[in-house]
Amino acid sequence: MLSAEKIPNNVNLSSNKRLQRALEHWQPKYIQWWRDMGPQGFQDYHQVYVRTAISVDPEGWAHFEYVKLPEYRWGIFLADPVRDRTIGFGDFFGQPVWQEVPGEFRNQLRRLIVTQGDTEPASVEQQRLLGQRCPSLYDLRNLFQVNVEEGRHLWAMVYMLHSYFGRDGRDEAEELLERQSGNRDKPRILEAFNEPIDNWLDFFMFTMFTDRDGKSQLMSLSESSLDPLSRTTRFMLTEEAHHMFVGETGVARILERTCQLMKEAGFSEDVRKLGGIDLPTIQKHLNQWFSLSLDLHGSEVSSNAASYFANGLKGRAKEDTYDDHVVTNAVYNMEFFEEGRTVPKDVLMRNAMNEVLRDWYVGDCAAGVERWNRVLERYGLSERLRLPDRKFNRGIGMYAGFHFDPNGVVLSNEEWERRKYEWLPSAADSEYLLSIMASPVYERGKFANYIAPPRRGVNQQPIDFEYVRTEQ
Ligand SMILES: [Fe+2]
Ligand SMILES: [Fe+2]
Repeated sequence: MLSAEKIPNNVNLSSNKRLQRALEHWQPKYIQWWRDMGPQGFQDYHQVYVRTAISVDPEGWAHFEYVKLPEYRWGIFLADPVRDRTIGFGDFFGQPVWQEVPGEFRNQLRRLIVTQGDTEPASVEQQRLLGQRCPSLYDLRNLFQVNVEEGRHLWAMVYMLHSYFGRDGRDEAEELLERQSGNRDKPRILEAFNEPIDNWLDFFMFTMFTDRDGKSQLMSLSESSLDPLSRTTRFMLTEEAHHMFVGETGVARILERTCQLMKEAGFSEDVRKLGGIDLPTIQKHLNQWFSLSLDLHGSEVSSNAASYFANGLKGRAKEDTYDDHVVTNAVYNMEFFEEGRTVPKDVLMRNAMNEVLRDWYVGDCAAGVERWNRVLERYGLSERLRLPDRKFNRGIGMYAGFHFDPNGVVLSNEEWERRKYEWLPSAADSEYLLSIMASPVYERGKFANYIAPPRRGVNQQPIDFEYVRTEQ
């Protein structure tokens, strides 16, 4: 039997026989998936100092222990209910929220949950080789913390599927373990989750930009009229914040080290000759993951997004900061691209909901890039990192068929082909990054040459703490 000890939860698992049975069936497959597709080489002989959520209150959430990864206690948690919560937007604004799935929105809700759920195991799969190239035990531990929490996010979505979607939900839960990142026949649903992440610069950019898309999506789902979905995603957001911390500080530490190397060399030497990561390479990876993550927000004009909003399934981030929650007639002024130039046009706001969320996302990313630039500023460098224009390198939406440079200037196909590696990582860049990451750093308190140590350790432990223990 699945006990609360094994699966910490606040959903009354022990008295919910139906859910128990469904999970008893699913859990062994999950563990098998974790062993096959999770962190390679760190399944059996390593103990990792991780945080395990054992309840939703602050103490229960900050519980640290050494565990072997397959023995991590993946739990099911919903944020506390909000009393008398009412629907916050759309056509049913002001009515009581739903505790069950209304039949007419069943398919739409299932699709939203499956799409979110699919990203969680996908990122674990994408990152599964990184442990063998880690820059320190501290970073190795952070990688695994992110991985187990993405695993828990999968559990959260599977809980929703098992509890509210009957047979279809159970089938979907199985398929979440069958699709595979980058697999030709059964790929993950969204493109950014099929890109390999084989070096640590990609990992940090991914957790900065793609996990931040996770934050956008979770914020909009936490507004949902389906109350259990709202509560599940609200708790997931607390974990997402840590993933973005890993990404933002990871890049900041690389920048710090790059600046140190440049300074030591009198600002004239090629940083690569000193084993560091040069600023243009960092900018290229930023360009790549930012543009891929913009795509994740969907098409600029979207009738699906309008319908999700109208039906109260998926709202805007921070819906309560808006004055109008119904937005029947409001319009959004959008930049279309027609006959070689941009043309501003009004679109019904409801049809522009993806773009509204993307605006929030771009603002949140821009603030992070500003914080990175403070590192460069501190070292007296005049170079700055920047977000590319949102038309750059898009694979989804109205700009997808065209090419733009990072300033948003349109380019011909030939020019794009000739110049794209000025702005995006080339095979040579990846090769260089792999070369400096070829030997992992597993010694306590040591860091790879291309990255500075963090300011402080995890959970007030020293930086040279043994964050991952190897059994003899
Ligand atoms: Fe997640
Ligand atoms: Fe995440």
